[in-house]
Amino acid sequence: MAMRQPTTVYLYELAWILPSIAIPVGMLVALAVTAFGVGIHLPGNEGRVNPTKVVETAPFDKPGVVAVSPGRYEARLVAQIWSFTPNEIRVPAGSTVTFVATSRDVVHGLFIHGANVNVMLIPGQVARVTARFDRPGEYPFICHEYCGIAHHAMWGKVIVESGR
Ligand code: CUA
Repeated sequence: MAMRQPTTVYLYELAWILPSIAIPVGMLVALAVTAFGVGIHLPGNEGRVNPTKVVETAPFDKPGVVAVSPGRYEARLVAQIWSFTPNEIRVPAGSTVTFVATSRDVVHGLFIHGANVNVMLIPGQVARVTARFDRPGEYPFICHEYCGIAHHAMWGKVIVESGR
């Protein structure tokens, strides 16, 4: 049986070894750049409140929408079985809205249809997520984590009003 050329084997292996090192290294670099350079991270982990004292703890003692600067609003939301407080949020078109939300009891979710908002609401964990609303109309939001018998009834809407 003829011996195979060692260099042929070496080059063939090298063609696999190099990408198998380069791909994970490239992914780690991409992860580091997005996490530490660009600051992209999962929504949430913005602090904790005592889940049994949510209604007494700022800013959740005054749920609702507050203007923070021209065109920017903060919507403070409390989730509980089986509703959101408030369940209607009104902002003018072109607004940037930061949702600050938590749960008083079990794990809920906040998903806003037509906006880039999709977070879990964990009891006592403060979630913070920002979205821009340019188009006037209604953006329904729902709880998208199963939370019991009336989970399907847990919803609300963001009303974006035109012309001011
Ligand atoms: Cu709250 Cu499902």
